[in-house]
Amino acid sequence: MKKTLILYFSKTGNNRFVAEKLSKDLAAELIEIKPKLNNFFLLILMSGLKIPSGFKKLSIDIKNYDRVILISPIWIGRLLSPVRGFVKKYKDSINDFTFISVCGSGSEDKDGKYGYENIFKEVKNYFSTNKIQCFEISTKSLNKTSQSPKDLPIISEDNFNGEIKERYDEILEILK
Ligand SMILES: Cc1cc2nc3c(=O)[nH]c(=O)nc-3n(C[C@H](O)[C@H](O)[C@H](O)COP(=O)(O)O)c2cc1C
Repeated sequence: MKKTLILYFSKTGNNRFVAEKLSKDLAAELIEIKPKLNNFFLLILMSGLKIPSGFKKLSIDIKNYDRVILISPIWIGRLLSPVRGFVKKYKDSINDFTFISVCGSGSEDKDGKYGYENIFKEVKNYFSTNKIQCFEISTKSLNKTSQSPKDLPIISEDNFNGEIKERYDEILEILK
């Protein structure tokens, strides 16, 4: 099997949930991308303005891996600023790259302003390798934990079933 590194960023836990599961299923090493600037509102602002930001030094050498999988949400139709920082820094050191986003948009609104397709195009443009693929896992099928529009759906072992699990299994088969 390919020696695989999984990196993830997660604020409310969904991308962490999938990253942890995938690291077990692919026997891959797992590392969190930790922003140097850990202020939610500044991160939203910088992401919105497409400004790459720094992240804490990784404890590994990325060149030691055959494949890198990056797992991150999408915010306001943008790549997260520390994730943009990561992609810009490492785009020339990775030959086999997979981007997965556990995000709020789904197939109906994937091409809209807040949809994942724009992000996928942007990520693909950064890399020169053609071994690059992007996948979404939409949280649309999950019931919200409350009626408040501010509360986003949260994946847990209790609701990891139905469409979300089917999509995860599809992606796992491709990556195996
Ligand atoms: C500030 C903010 C902005 C968001 N904007 C988008 C968006 O533009 N498109 C989208 O598909 N999802 C959007 N979402 C939903 C997240 O991508 C989704 O809830 C994701 O699963 C959260 O990942 P996490 O739990 O790993 O932090 C947004 C969430 C937040 C908090």
